[in-house]
Amino acid sequence: MTPPPGSLLTARDLRKAYGPTVALDGAEFSIHPGEVVAVMGPSGSGKSTLLHCLAGIVPPDSGSIMYDGRELSGMSDAERSALRRGEFGFVFQFGQLVPELTCVENVALPLRLSGTPRKKAERAALTWLERLEVDDLGGKRPGEVSGGQGQRVAVARALVTAPRMVFADEPTGALDSLNGERVMELLTDAARSTNAAVVLVTHEARVAAYSDREIVVRDGRSRDMERAV
Ligand SMILES: Nc1ncnc2c1ncn2[C@@H]1O[C@H](COP(=O)(O)OP(=O)(O)OP(=O)(O)O)[C@@H](O)[C@H]1O
Ligand SMILES: [Mg+2]
Repeated sequence: MTPPPGSLLTARDLRKAYGPTVALDGAEFSIHPGEVVAVMGPSGSGKSTLLHCLAGIVPPDSGSIMYDGRELSGMSDAERSALRRGEFGFVFQFGQLVPELTCVENVALPLRLSGTPRKKAERAALTWLERLEVDDLGGKRPGEVSGGQGQRVAVARALVTAPRMVFADEPTGALDSLNGERVMELLTDAARSTNAAVVLVTHEARVAAYSDREIVVRDGRSRDMERAV
């Protein structure tokens, strides 16, 4: 497959079934560096499955996914995990922070796993916590902070490795609208300032409004939605 010029990640004709359930039925996707693409669609339409395939977490049954000129299915498991650790950042609906670690340690974790010394990793973590306006929480554990604060810590953790791609699945799904909008603002500002591409799964139009482009997934198929503004 030849991806469109300038694209960082492109998927063609993705198919994925779980037993009799067809989750993806010919889905297409493409994203450029620095672009924020919202993936919308009803519950069960295949949004999370698409995101997991694009991120190399779940293998599709068929179809092609090209990341930076390389076919994901042609990589070994070790190469794919190195890619996820080194070039991808993830934010999920419920933060999924490690409860035993402080917020600073949580944000520093991806750097520590790649071999960065503790002091250096925690300095970088603190810089990101400052950008997300939660540096005062650094010493607390996730159980001691609010949902909105925890999501900001999760966003800091996703960005601390300067990923080229950020995958976010309903990152504000558990937040009230004020907190949700602030987290989206911080996430998209930070991603744009580092030229990261963001795949943002959401079913909320006000969250999708932070994207450059929207696609809609229905019954495992995706299509571009023209923004009406
Ligand atoms: N691990 C799994 N095992 C079996 N079926 C699955 C699995 N993951 C997803 N499915 C099914 O595949 C379809 C697509 O699921 P998916 O999670 O991608 O939907 P979604 O659009 O993310 O929904 P939601 O908005 O509720 O999160 C659904 O019918 C779902 O039940
Ligand atoms: Mg989902």
